[in-house]
Amino acid sequence: VTVIRGYRPDDLDDLYRICLETGASGQDATSLYSDPRLIGHVFAAPYGLFEPALAFVAEDEAGVGGYVLGALDSRAFQERLEAEWWPPLRARYADPAADGIPVDEWTTDQRMAHSIHRPESKSAELLERYPSHLHLDLLPRLQGQGEGRRLIGTLLDALRARGSCGVHFVVGGKNQRAVGFYRHLGLPELEAGADFHLFGVEFRTERF
Ligand SMILES: CC(C)(COP(=O)(O)OP(=O)(O)OC[C@H]1O[C@@H](n2cnc3c(N)ncnc32)[C@H](O)[C@@H]1OP(=O)(O)O)[C@@H](O)C(=O)NCCC(=O)NCCS
Repeated sequence: VTVIRGYRPDDLDDLYRICLETGASGQDATSLYSDPRLIGHVFAAPYGLFEPALAFVAEDEAGVGGYVLGALDSRAFQERLEAEWWPPLRARYADPAADGIPVDEWTTDQRMAHSIHRPESKSAELLERYPSHLHLDLLPRLQGQGEGRRLIGTLLDALRARGSCGVHFVVGGKNQRAVGFYRHLGLPELEAGADFHLFGVEFRTERF
């Protein structure tokens, strides 16, 4: 049996591990990184640390095997990371751009290190309508059993309950399985670029 429960501080290593093992367009990215925690520094750990009430895990007999992670107000979340999360990581991971390394020579580690130094920001228009965002990942053993549907449902309910008016999330262009999943759930696709799909869900509540 798989249960979905709220995040606990001792789940942090599982967030890092699951993020890495699903980090190559839904496939295992372990072989792509020499530092196994780099990807989780960006896409997983800060959500557990700074938005624990919007982090949920799926756990079975083998342990935690999936999560959904949310940020209620993406702009406030980024400001918090600027103050408390990125500075020590920037000191630890050099920015390949600052070192003058040509972009097409960056390793996977260096690309992630660059995004620690220069986090991607979303447009004001998007954040006005869809201020929250989320990440959803399940290890293979928990895929295809309805856990993805349950996890995202849990997070959408939690965001709604906290007064969010909308949530956005980005899917990599090579992750057709995830795109098919979100489309199957009827979640609106706002934009599709060459290497990404942007989804957004509006909640019919007052804006905060
Ligand atoms: C993508 C992912 C979250 C989907 O979760 P899942 O638990 O495997 O999917 P579920 O079993 O909950 O599927 C829910 C429904 O979507 C359908 N579905 C799933 N994938 C689908 C696809 N690619 N195309 C069409 N329908 C799909 C299922 O058939 C199921 O239908 P039903 O409930 O109407 O019977 C999960 O496979 C995963 O974590 N993959 C690896 C990491 C990843 O890619 N994360 C997303 C990054 S943006």
